[in-house]
Amino acid sequence: MLLTAAGKKTKRSATLVMNETVKQLRKSGKEVFHLGFGESPFPIHPIIQKALCDNAHQRNYLPTQGILPLREQICRFYENMYGFDVTPNQIVVGPGSKVLLYNAMMALQGPLFVPTPSWVSYDEQARLLGKEICYVRTSHETSYLMTSEIFENALKEHWTHTADQKILVINTPNNPTGQSYSKAQLKELANVAKENNVIVLSDEIYALLTYREYEHHSIAEYYPEGTLITGGLSKDRSAGGFRVGTIILPAEESELLESILTIASNTWSCVAAPIQYAAIEAYRPNQEILDYIRDCTAISEIITKYTHQRLRSCDIRCPAPMGAFYLFPDWNSEREQMAAKGIKTSMDISEVLLRDWSVATLPGSDFGMVPEELCIRLATVDYNGEIALRKYRENPQKAMDDPDSFVKCVAPRLITAAEILEKFTESIR
Ligand SMILES: Cc1ncc(COP(=O)(O)O)c(C=O)c1O
Repeated sequence: MLLTAAGKKTKRSATLVMNETVKQLRKSGKEVFHLGFGESPFPIHPIIQKALCDNAHQRNYLPTQGILPLREQICRFYENMYGFDVTPNQIVVGPGSKVLLYNAMMALQGPLFVPTPSWVSYDEQARLLGKEICYVRTSHETSYLMTSEIFENALKEHWTHTADQKILVINTPNNPTGQSYSKAQLKELANVAKENNVIVLSDEIYALLTYREYEHHSIAEYYPEGTLITGGLSKDRSAGGFRVGTIILPAEESELLESILTIASNTWSCVAAPIQYAAIEAYRPNQEILDYIRDCTAISEIITKYTHQRLRSCDIRCPAPMGAFYLFPDWNSEREQMAAKGIKTSMDISEVLLRDWSVATLPGSDFGMVPEELCIRLATVDYNGEIALRKYRENPQKAMDDPDSFVKCVAPRLITAAEILEKFTESIR
């Protein structure tokens, strides 16, 4: 071996690796219930598909920041959906919000505070950048939400030089837990961040997948001068493979903007031209697209709540989801019984579930939990989104009123997966 690869201390995205593993297993004829990857199951809206076809001829490199009509449209979208007053110059369009988060971390000085559990890539990105990582541990007691007290204690514990800039990443609604921060919680966190010179990276990629009885709020409402918001088309418009995301910077941060554009122009240059033009339509607050987002979110809500209910009915601990399509159950109260079966870590649970029960999940340790915490992440998207959307639209009220029949009709594989998780739990009790 003559070549030496860098990045050996980091690992590939666990979610993407699991998705490849399941594809391989299925190819070899094995039936797998895929609760391991959180990709929106719905088809891309025809308006967006048409816009992409209409722009297939766009061949030129475009401005690194993103074309102005797209950034203007994104501003209107944010104003419409969240009442945010943003100018096009605060926005950078990139090939997915993942790389924009990486770019922002590179541009901002200071250690990264990562609440656990957290999405798989934040700490890996910080590791790739050689940044110091400070984990902020949360538990089931607060539904895995970071309280201001937990945050303050973590600041004291990890970083005594309060004058130095620090970075905090938060994600609401949350992958892997499905939890959202309330207005009051965000306000308190914002105060702690302000007092301690903490810049917040607010990952709001699931904002529009907030369930009906909750409202999405951003920490930027209370700390606009110190918050960068990321979002994109991957989840609520089901366009993960388009690779387009956005970052909104605080107003008047020209140095930070310059730094982000310097990194962007020397790496990805610009988002693909046909995609940028198609994204203008994806961000137009056109009623058809808004209806699509609302209906897809309603389906995610029905199916995720159904799965949660099934887990709870056999006493598996799991916070009730408030948005997105994830659940984060744990078996910590069955630690002894689990150990008797040789299951001592969350990785052991995931391995046993895949090997013996044909259910793909991800261990809590991939989300920064200590390995001995017996928790896993489930993604509730193993169904055909096109059929689900059609059936839902035939009678939305009925789907809401009788979720069991709806799930039986459109997501039978998830029902089987829930039954398997019940049997697995019984087998260790
Ligand atoms: C919490 C979270 N943030 C960011 C992303 C990245 O999204 P994208 O790069 O497709 O915009 C994902 C994707 O799974 C995610 O779950």
